[in-house]
Amino acid sequence: MSQLTSFLLVLSLCAFAPLCFSSKTKGGNLYPQFYDHSCPKAQEIVRSVLAKAVAKEARMAASILRLRFHDCFVQGCDASLLLDSSGISCADLLAIAARESTVLRGGPSWEVLLGRRDSRTASLSGSNNNIPAPNNTFPTILTKFKRQGLDIVDLVALSGSHTIGNARCTSFRQRLYNQSGNGQPDYTLDQSYAAQLKTRCPKSGGDQNLFFLDYVSPTKFDNNYYKNILASKGLLNSDQVLLTKNEGSRELVQGERLERTAGRLTLDSTT
Ligand code: HEM
Ligand SMILES: *[C@@H]1O[C@H](CO)[C@@H](O)[C@H](O)[C@H]1NC(C)=O
Ligand SMILES: *[C@@H]1O[C@H](CO)[C@@H](O)[C@H](O)[C@H]1NC(C)=O
Repeated sequence: MSQLTSFLLVLSLCAFAPLCFSSKTKGGNLYPQFYDHSCPKAQEIVRSVLAKAVAKEARMAASILRLRFHDCFVQGCDASLLLDSSGISCADLLAIAARESTVLRGGPSWEVLLGRRDSRTASLSGSNNNIPAPNNTFPTILTKFKRQGLDIVDLVALSGSHTIGNARCTSFRQRLYNQSGNGQPDYTLDQSYAAQLKTRCPKSGGDQNLFFLDYVSPTKFDNNYYKNILASKGLLNSDQVLLTKNEGSRELVQGERLERTAGRLTLDSTT
């Protein structure tokens, strides 16, 4: 995380609507030209700083993208996880950086609306309650998305971000050994894939060991995430339940496998 921290510090020099996340944040109208006069090179600066950070540490692209998700699920997309005061909005920086992270990994681009107002307060309870956990049930996850004004299409599309990045053993161990509290594994997980995961994610220990969320193309923003789910090789429980627990999301997963890149990320770039 120190790379991440220093990256964000560098950014502080100077909306998923963007990626599906609502652009209706507090602070009024957002528009792409917000910095055209005050900081005309804003987007260029973010792009070049991000490119350097990712070149230094490849995972940075995924971590930034995830940060944007977490920011948006607690008090809106307001950079409340940074609470840094600076001349330029950190919330905007995060929105641009998440787009650039996606593009750097071969994913779609979209126009980022700008002019968000940064938060001056954080919320621990919001972080604990609003952000879905990997072992939440499908209805709970969907409810948490709906609370943010996001629907089932957004859920399936945005989950497609798990086409890049890593998860720790502790985030999915339950599936390997004791899915429902009866000492049995999750039978919706491919058993040979499970056996492979177990070698570095034992019953106890190895909590921090890292695994690719998309083992087929872990650094490419593509639709293998959906293909993996269809092959019962979604890593997190929250990934696999999109196929197994709801007919609507199942059809969406089946549709997404045909797209060039993950989900509605593409559609939203034009709206
Ligand atoms: C649907 C509910 C979601 C759940 C339950 C979930 C859960 C998780 C978990 C448990 C991890 C691994 C964390 C760790 O083990 O350290 C993770 C990683 C990640 N998540 Fe999600 N996530 C969800 C949705 C999203 C969304 C909407 C996005 C972005 C739009 C996103 C982007 C990412 C990325 C890029 C990573 C990899 C981060 C890295 O490598 O540093 N996730 N997620
Ligand atoms: C989900 O995981 C957390 C953290 O490991 C655990 O405390 C909780 O009991 C799990 N919930 C369910 C429903 O299995
Ligand atoms: C599985 O989880 C349940 C409930 O959390 C626990 O009581 C039980 O001891 C666990 N079983 C094994 C084999 O770990």
